[in-house]
Amino acid sequence: MLKVGVFGVGHLGKFHLNNWKEIKKAELVGFYDPNDAIAREVEEKYQLARFPDPEQLMDACDLVDIIAPTPFHFTLCEKAIRKGKHVFVEKPLANTMEEARELVKLVKESNIKLQVGHVERFNPAYLAVKTMQLTPMFIEVHRLAQFNPRGTEVSVILDLMIHDIDIILSLVKSEVKNISASGVAVMTDTPDIASVRIEFNNGCVANLTSSRISMKKMRKMRLFQKDAYIGIDFLNKKAEVIKLKTPQDLDVFSFDIETPNGKKTIALSNPSVPEVNAIRLELEKFCDAILDNTPTLVSEVDGFRAMDIAHQILQKIKHNTINS
Ligand SMILES: NC(=O)c1ccc[n+]([C@@H]2O[C@H](COP(=O)([O-])OP(=O)(O)OC[C@H]3O[C@@H](n4cnc5c(N)ncnc54)[C@H](O)[C@@H]3O)[C@@H](O)[C@H]2O)c1
Repeated sequence: MLKVGVFGVGHLGKFHLNNWKEIKKAELVGFYDPNDAIAREVEEKYQLARFPDPEQLMDACDLVDIIAPTPFHFTLCEKAIRKGKHVFVEKPLANTMEEARELVKLVKESNIKLQVGHVERFNPAYLAVKTMQLTPMFIEVHRLAQFNPRGTEVSVILDLMIHDIDIILSLVKSEVKNISASGVAVMTDTPDIASVRIEFNNGCVANLTSSRISMKKMRKMRLFQKDAYIGIDFLNKKAEVIKLKTPQDLDVFSFDIETPNGKKTIALSNPSVPEVNAIRLELEKFCDAILDNTPTLVSEVDGFRAMDIAHQILQKIKHNTINS
């Protein structure tokens, strides 16, 4: 049984508390949150001990779960790693590249496991297609949200787009060749809306649009690869696949079309989406990695790589803004 301490019990932290209570391999020890009003509410609702000092809580647990605002990730992670505690930290891994680099180094020198909260890797719509051979050559992504002051301590790139960057980097097995980006700070001091194009050495191109000032919500990724189109709707938890029919595609809706290369049979399907709670699954998988001593599914290096691309995007946006 892993003893868990939760650091930050705001909006997302409460979802983590609800899930930890259901995870059999874990036992909640307590929480740390400097906000008295939030802490009182959590003490009452969850009947959970509030620790007055973060280090005291770290000393009392095996696994430190960090859901504090991003500027606090580094200090909390560093303390926990130095104490030899396993760390689950929300995305983005840290606030700056220097911090992220230092965390990767500290984990390497330690015996602990660290997982970053790139929860879309556990989204049921993504899991529905993940077992297919995904080799996209063109990717189109829209992640649009309504404005909410929560999360605006960082840009839309580090708040929202980083989810898609992480998924794309895990899918495309090639180095990034070039990035073009533009973005605008409409409601805050950092970009609230951005359009980005990432080109990879293998020819794959990803176009990403992220906004936190939209009227409607959308979280869609479209993958185009040889002979197939794969649509992933992260928000509505749906997936669709359109591809050239093969003899293995039994019982799927299909139709014929004439192409310059002759008649082709197109198959349409909606892969079955597993009924899973993405947060529960990511936390459970982290416990498994610790207990079985296996690699974490979203490592500190994955968190670092996603941040690295996010920061390169921010540099491009800054450069374009200064020169416009
Ligand atoms: N994976 C996702 O999809 C996802 C979604 C939302 C937020 N997040 C991430 O989770 C983190 C928190 O976001 P949120 O929306 O819950 O924010 P929030 O503002 O609702 O909650 C943050 C909580 O942390 C507390 N806090 C402040 N300083 C702290 C410290 N030093 N130690 C411990 N707690 C501290 C605050 O009092 C507050 O209760 C951010 O890093 C954000 O990027 C991830």
